[in-house]
Amino acid sequence: MTRAVCPGSFDPLTRGHLDIVARAARLFDEVVVAVGVNASKRRLFDDEERLAMAAAATADLPGVRVEGFSGLLTDFCTRVGAVAVVKGLRSAGDYEYELPMAQMNDHLSGLETVFVASRPQFAHVSSSLVKEVATLGGDVAPFLTPEVHARLLARIAERRAGA
Ligand code: PNS
Repeated sequence: MTRAVCPGSFDPLTRGHLDIVARAARLFDEVVVAVGVNASKRRLFDDEERLAMAAAATADLPGVRVEGFSGLLTDFCTRVGAVAVVKGLRSAGDYEYELPMAQMNDHLSGLETVFVASRPQFAHVSSSLVKEVATLGGDVAPFLTPEVHARLLARIAERRAGA
């Protein structure tokens, strides 16, 4: 039984994330989508919302479950018995950002990091860009599940109304 962790903020989860999770699920027996619940970062969606969106989006993927985590990723991986972290790489920029974290995680606990090359249709898709484009009225529906898209538009409307 091999288990991997796909960690992230998922604010919100995109189809790019989902593609990496689905592909990780083909490489490992089980995949835990680890939603960072670090209160220090400002998010559009709170912890419960990000967990619920990730759970709904991955519900039909066999062997995939969702958990929240805080603290060191290596501690979380030890707790759930994961042998590897799986991260998607969209660009050389992602690699530069991810490599020191992968090396630090190896130093901390010997945790392996498996990099999966993002599919070209998701190479420009990030949670932050999706939020920015949607806030400015652009169409981001192709990059999100219908549920996440609806929640994003609703949240933007709430913010606009001053809620
Ligand atoms: O979606 P993000 O913001 O790229 O997710 C980042 C996340 C949550 C995966 C990253 O911040 C993380 O691994 N945090 C856990 C804290 C930790 O272990 N830090 C040391 C990493 S070497």
